[in-house]
Amino acid sequence: MRETPPGDGAATGAVLASARDLGIARNGRWLVQGIDLCVRRGEIVTLIGPNGSGKSTTAKAVIGLMKADAGSVWRTPGLRIGYVPQKLAMDRTLPLTVARLLTLTHRQPRAAVHAALEAVGIPHLANAQVHGLSGGEFQRALLARAMLRDPDLLVLDEPVQGVDVQGEAALYSLISQIRERTGCGILMISHDLHVVMAATDTVICLNGRVSCRGTPQAVISNPAYQRLFGRTGADMLAVYRHHEDGTAPCGHAGHDHQAEPDEAAPGSQAPTNRPAEARHAG
Ligand SMILES: Nc1ncnc2c1ncn2[C@@H]1O[C@H](COP(=O)(O)OP(=O)(O)OP(=O)(O)O)[C@@H](O)[C@H]1O
Ligand SMILES: [Mg+2]
Repeated sequence: MRETPPGDGAATGAVLASARDLGIARNGRWLVQGIDLCVRRGEIVTLIGPNGSGKSTTAKAVIGLMKADAGSVWRTPGLRIGYVPQKLAMDRTLPLTVARLLTLTHRQPRAAVHAALEAVGIPHLANAQVHGLSGGEFQRALLARAMLRDPDLLVLDEPVQGVDVQGEAALYSLISQIRERTGCGILMISHDLHVVMAATDTVICLNGRVSCRGTPQAVISNPAYQRLFGRTGADMLAVYRHHEDGTAPCGHAGHDHQAEPDEAAPGSQAPTNRPAEARHAG
């Protein structure tokens, strides 16, 4: 299969940020090497890969939190970035309201805070204590916090961690809606392969280097993807195929993922024992 060069997925918007031949080394070891990627306005690019494959490292380099030791990173001048890190260095037991969490590092008018909470579906939690939030509510609060800067580029490192199956689908749907509404670009990291596949324009499969990349359809039929994800990848083919039968892959029009039978339970057992003919040409 042809390797898709960075940035030539479905999106045609202006380039927001890109990396070329990016390498990051620590203690004499390359954490990632030879990474090319590009996020355009209005595009969702998702990094997938096993633990330790360099997803967070790559995302941090793209937004300038880690310096490139090889290659280069480019960001459009004045780029506003909203970032939800994989780990937040804060003590969740400290007394802190949601509204205060949103304004800790950047002062914001109350109306803006309310609008951000409204956008992520938790306007009623502005005065709630952060330590009392459920996992899904906390992730929504972090998303609101990232959105408060009216970002051109949203970088979401495992945005649905700790969220239940239904909440996952709702959050991914929300992320798609944010893209539709604001036109921002999104660089996302996720382990939820089949949900990600449905909601993404460009998938980049990492394992220290780029194993494969392209549209979800192209990636799932790539042998490198199948080697990396094994059975999960094979199951993914079957799940994704559901969308090919008469309907376009979902997610791009911001429709309700919960209405999709295969996606209503992202964490549930995907169909297994699908024959090889479930595979399709990318
Ligand atoms: N600051 C650092 N110093 C040294 N090694 C690091 C540093 N940050 C990350 N690493 C190492 O780089 C590799 C990639 O880490 P990274 O966090 O990018 O992986 P990941 O793909 O995000 O994994 P996960 O799915 O577990 O979040 C790992 O082996 C990790 O231990
Ligand atoms: Mg990570």
